[in-house]
Amino acid sequence: MLELDYTYMMDDVVGRRGVSAADLHQATAQVSSIHDRLQVARQSGDLPFYDLPFQDSLDDIIDQADALAERFDDIVVLGIGGSALGTVAIARALLPLHNNLLDRARRGDRPRLFVLDNIDPAGINETLDLLTPEKTCFCVISKSGTTVETMSQFLVARRWLEEAVGDTFREHFVLVTDPQAGVLRQLATRQGYASAIVPDGVGGRFSVFSAVGLLPLAAAGVNVRELLAGAAAIYPQLTSGDLFANPAYLNGLLQYLAYGKGAHISVMMPYSDQLAAVADWYCQLWAESLGKRQDLDGKEVFVGPTPVKAVGATDQHSQLQLYMEGPYDKVVTFLSVARYQKTGIPPSAEIPDLEYLGGKDLADLLASEHRATAIALARAGRPNCTIRLDEISPATVGALLFMLEVQTVFAGGLFNVNPLDQPGVEAGKIITSGLMAKSGFEKQRNEVEDWEKLAKSKVLAVG
Ligand code: PA5
Repeated sequence: MLELDYTYMMDDVVGRRGVSAADLHQATAQVSSIHDRLQVARQSGDLPFYDLPFQDSLDDIIDQADALAERFDDIVVLGIGGSALGTVAIARALLPLHNNLLDRARRGDRPRLFVLDNIDPAGINETLDLLTPEKTCFCVISKSGTTVETMSQFLVARRWLEEAVGDTFREHFVLVTDPQAGVLRQLATRQGYASAIVPDGVGGRFSVFSAVGLLPLAAAGVNVRELLAGAAAIYPQLTSGDLFANPAYLNGLLQYLAYGKGAHISVMMPYSDQLAAVADWYCQLWAESLGKRQDLDGKEVFVGPTPVKAVGATDQHSQLQLYMEGPYDKVVTFLSVARYQKTGIPPSAEIPDLEYLGGKDLADLLASEHRATAIALARAGRPNCTIRLDEISPATVGALLFMLEVQTVFAGGLFNVNPLDQPGVEAGKIITSGLMAKSGFEKQRNEVEDWEKLAKSKVLAVG
């Protein structure tokens, strides 16, 4: 279904910035100890995302999604970060690229899917302008049920609906949130909004296989059963303690060793438009999970690879020059597909310079460009690996995302940080609450205002 090709990560190919076979073998004791810790954490209920491919609630989620699909023309996800990126990644991979431009019949009689993962008024307003309130459903997705961006989106959508459909506006919402805590759960319990659950202990960036991703995706027509089946199919490998059998452990270790050799930037470069948004999802997963000031022993370490998205072949004409000749600070993970869709390139005998392309296929060109880029980087001493999907299908995409989730918690063990928290994000959230005059945050507001006065502003007006 997938394969991890790490040939060009190794020092026998890329030279001293590559990983040696000895590096891998020397790490086996550390790998076993992290594996054991992950098992203990799982038994204590700290990593429930591992069990999502086998969840009992799948039928209920699909029933709820089917009911939404019957009633509505448009499903709009309101959410941010881990509550939105997984849905975008999978929708982009598994729905037609221009899904929302197709008519309903060509969408398999399913609603359009919009994901509003920002609060820029332009984005919100321009999306609302496309929708008919009577036929629109908002999936408000927030694990905490308090995130300021999502709550604000919710209030805007609620007013927009109320003005159009009056008292029935609640019937146009599903609140996907924690089973107990947060404003959204209170609304669901006290005011009769429909809801779905983000299971206990499943944090945003590890939640794509819960109702967070499954509900809107199933409503839009993604085969979420096969998605989870793909993840379940590689579960035995992802839970193996054998480094050379477990692709998540092996790739986590390769990335970690490359980081230790100076590759502090981790590029994910799908050679596929359909997989482009997987790189956005991965960037959040990798950055928020591994970028930490303190390690598990409370020591200040300031670690974490910086993830970067690039898309092949597009970014060959944008970023690749830097990757080839700039600083030796990158490790590239390509995503490629063994069986791309096919589109023949027609012969053009009357244009001699283009004759060599005639009779070839765009799929072969894309595959050759990936191959050429990987080889060129390797020959320039720049480590890179490829995760190759047999094809783009719900099963392979489910397997890929699950592998990257396990890779991330395993890498947390290697970096000796907690991959499940995000204290740095919390700091900004608290200041925002102060600036937005939320009650209880007056002290933070005053502190920030004093701090801004001290930091003498330097602004250059232009034009
Ligand atoms: O991965 C995470 O935990 C975060 O990116 C959250 O998903 C994001 O901050 C939104 O949080 P919530 O789902 O609580 O609204």
